[in-house]
Amino acid sequence: MSSAVSALREALAVSPDNVPLRVHLARMLVEVGRAEEALFEARAAVARDPERIDAREVLGAAAGALGDDAALVEAWFPIRAQLGADEVRVLALAAARAGKLDAAREAYAVLHSLDTAVHDLELDRAMRTAPPPAPAAVEPAPARTSPVRTLPPAPPRPAESPTAEPMPRGTRPTVTFADVGGLEALKERLRMDIVYPLQRPDLFRAYGKRIGGGVLLYGPPGCGKTHLARAAAGECGAKFYVVEIQAVLDMWLGESEKRLHAIFEEARANAPSIVFFDEIEAIGGARHQLKHGPGRRLVNQLLAELDGAGASNEAVLVIGATNAPWDVDPALRRPGRFDRVVFVPPPDATARENVLRLALRERPTEALELGSIARRCLRFSGADMHHLVEVASERALGEALRTGKVRPITQSDLLASLDKVKPTTTEWIETARRYVSYANQAGLYDDVGAYLRSLEA
Ligand SMILES: Nc1ncnc2c1ncn2[C@@H]1O[C@H](COP(=O)(O)OP(=O)(O)O)[C@@H](O)[C@H]1O
Ligand SMILES: [Mg+2]
Repeated sequence: MSSAVSALREALAVSPDNVPLRVHLARMLVEVGRAEEALFEARAAVARDPERIDAREVLGAAAGALGDDAALVEAWFPIRAQLGADEVRVLALAAARAGKLDAAREAYAVLHSLDTAVHDLELDRAMRTAPPPAPAAVEPAPARTSPVRTLPPAPPRPAESPTAEPMPRGTRPTVTFADVGGLEALKERLRMDIVYPLQRPDLFRAYGKRIGGGVLLYGPPGCGKTHLARAAAGECGAKFYVVEIQAVLDMWLGESEKRLHAIFEEARANAPSIVFFDEIEAIGGARHQLKHGPGRRLVNQLLAELDGAGASNEAVLVIGATNAPWDVDPALRRPGRFDRVVFVPPPDATARENVLRLALRERPTEALELGSIARRCLRFSGADMHHLVEVASERALGEALRTGKVRPITQSDLLASLDKVKPTTTEWIETARRYVSYANQAGLYDDVGAYLRSLEA
């Protein structure tokens, strides 16, 4: 084998610009375990012809053999669009480890575009614990033609434009509790805990009622947690700030605490405000047992903000939401923090009927008997009910397109759609059942227990 290597070297000495030959040599060197030399030859090949995929591939192979993350990024980043999912994943990990965060994010975006369902714990962790950006960043990625919606766009590097960073601007939601079907007891509870304190802090104070602390909403996906939080802000005209923990960790690597603080500062300046934390289990929970590093620092920053360190939180209330309350860091549930834990159940038959009515209100319909439909949607979430209406609407629309005539959505459209929509809460309910049975600390999930028993009744 080494004679083959020498033969190739001799040939290259004669024609140093023969890139295929050099690639061949590099590949052979990788195979015989001479990765250092392979790296050298592959780099030379890439330098001569940066467009050659095979040169980059062998450079990547040599870098991989050497465990040289920076070289791997150098090799593969420019051809990320041509790589398979496994390779892109390796690229993203290497970039995160090498502190090349723009490249890591971009590779992560490519990975999502290849597989939108990808959720990679190791990768998440690597991104989160990545060292600070290296001074020599990789070349900027060309604009992607199809934006990847699963990942927020990377913000400009702060060093270049400290003020251009898009600040989290609160919104003023126009939805109110009237747009939330059912859940009447819950709305009343949120009025007492969130709406009235923001509207009439004077009265609360007069009666010696403490204002503050947060409400943690939990329950299966699609049952209105986000919708309720937004509606609570709409009810009292408060500014509404959404903080998606995952996005904070991914986008603001190394800067997450500062950003979190900035959000609270803005919320305080624009009070009354509600700061809403979605997927709050993503911070500090069982998934991220990091003692140090960005995850831990972010938890501490959040705790400091919740405790109102150095600032008054009087007119800033917080709502958290999670599908996985069992993964929420217990430190977040202490008094003054997310101390009220509220179950948002799948809607009951009456609530389902309301959601149907809300979803249908701006569409042409004949006189419908929604109660009988709603009763057949056992375990449907609010989102599932919306989905049902979408399917029924498509059925009517399809016919309108064929005949050219608008016809209303009928009872039979809805009935036919029942076959096509399945409840999405089942898996959550099964998981919850295990927690209620085996890990119901301090009766935390009693409400879920009652709900589960009602299902069996
Ligand atoms: N009770 C409800 N009334 C009206 N719409 C609802 C209700 N529950 C869920 N939805 C609708 O279903 C979708 C998903 O709800 P969302 O609040 O995002 O669920 P979650 O945050 O619990 O996962 C939203 O578009 C919302 O409008
Ligand atoms: Mg939500």
